[in-house]
Amino acid sequence: MKKLNAVINTYNRKSHINPEIYGHFSEHLGRCIYKGIYVGEDSPIPNIGGVRKDIIEAFRQIKMPVIRWPGGCFADEYHWMDGIGPKESRKKMVNTNWGGVTEDNSFGTNEFFNFCEAVGCEPYLSVNVGSGTVEEMANWIEYITFDGVSPMAQLRRDNGREKPWKLKYLGIGNENWGCGGNMRPEYYADVYRRFQTFAKNFSGNRLFKVACGPSDSQYNWTEGLLHNINDMHANAISMHYYTLPTGDWQHKGSATEFDDKEYYQTIEHTLAIEDMIEKHGALLSIHTKQMKLIVDEWGCWYDVEPGTNPGFLYQQNTMRDAIVAAINLNIFNQHSDIVCMANIAQAVNVLQALILTEGEKMVKTPTYHVFDMFKAHQGNELVDSFVENETREGVPAISYSASMNEGRDLVITLANCMLDETYEISCDLCGYNAKEIEAQILTNDVHAHNDFTDPEKVSIAPYKATKDGDKIIVSLPPCSVVTVICHE
Ligand code: AHR
Repeated sequence: MKKLNAVINTYNRKSHINPEIYGHFSEHLGRCIYKGIYVGEDSPIPNIGGVRKDIIEAFRQIKMPVIRWPGGCFADEYHWMDGIGPKESRKKMVNTNWGGVTEDNSFGTNEFFNFCEAVGCEPYLSVNVGSGTVEEMANWIEYITFDGVSPMAQLRRDNGREKPWKLKYLGIGNENWGCGGNMRPEYYADVYRRFQTFAKNFSGNRLFKVACGPSDSQYNWTEGLLHNINDMHANAISMHYYTLPTGDWQHKGSATEFDDKEYYQTIEHTLAIEDMIEKHGALLSIHTKQMKLIVDEWGCWYDVEPGTNPGFLYQQNTMRDAIVAAINLNIFNQHSDIVCMANIAQAVNVLQALILTEGEKMVKTPTYHVFDMFKAHQGNELVDSFVENETREGVPAISYSASMNEGRDLVITLANCMLDETYEISCDLCGYNAKEIEAQILTNDVHAHNDFTDPEKVSIAPYKATKDGDKIIVSLPPCSVVTVICHE
């Protein structure tokens, strides 16, 4: 066991941790929506308006703050009018991005907004720029948010919803440098400016407009975009970054079968997001006064589970994913001055999913448990923290962040990324007198995962952190995530 010192300085409040940093993403892809979130009103699986009750409950438990929909690449071929009105007359389409399957549009705008209301989260719409029109987008916003007399408000009423919904987050296009139209940044910037002009605030609703930003380290996209749009046009730009164990899109690596070398490579690759956030953040501060960064899509992307449809992106989720989730969430907290939202890809049955389903069965993945353990950070102030870290296998051993809420509860989240070493952290609390300490741990073999025969294999357990004068002492076993909450 190795001992490391740490300091948390509660006098130094650094930035506000927007709850939306703990956000999510749901796309019409594989079994994320259909056979995942949405099973239809006639399903024997208990549901509210077709949405699984157990999923609503699970998302409420982690205080899901926001969910992005309907894509992803799907968003830029989605025509919202096809997904409203009587289900039997909704137009069918081909989901060209994801397996060429038939999309019957039975989950559309009303279903999505009702789902968000049931969960208690903000809806985040990704509108079709690549193959859609300005008029289509403008009508969608009117349908959702207008309280007065208008054709779209009437259509909403005809579809059974009298009052408008609130819509804050509006993403104008998705990956417009790729599946959203293969545009150049200058061209997209002009298209963006036109679309956002017609994104109106109706009936007291205030839109927060998000322009399509870069993929990982595409700094030329961010530069090109920010030369052509300003604070008058957008509130934030988005960024996408996926963690691939091998770094090779042709052979990404298996979700469950990997050796230590591939594990540490995964950790190294996921840590790369920090540098990207800092560099895109620096460009934002050079070019704009207020614009923030949204990490719209993040998480591990592996080869699909053997025998499953390659277009469905279904993968298992192990303790490795839990460590990756903890590292990313700690990084987002530490950069909450720049990052105002982050959405893991994706919520159910796709990529680094929080939930897996099979028929009526549902499994919470290790990643889900990390979101549960980190939820106490939501809405807090980030406080200064430092761990006397060590670098092994090319990566820092400990990932960490700390925050304080209005009632002065101190929340500390830690991950031990090493597979063969226990660390005892002795943490000086500066300006804080911890009278009570509660802790939780998630730990197991790095390959351990939850499946439909053993759904609780990886689960949160109560843990003990002790007090020694002004210090708290926490021991971190190999491959573990720990949350400590102190009360004065
Ligand atoms: O999350 C899967 C896909 O990854 C999304 O559709 C797209 O935006 C990204 O390339």
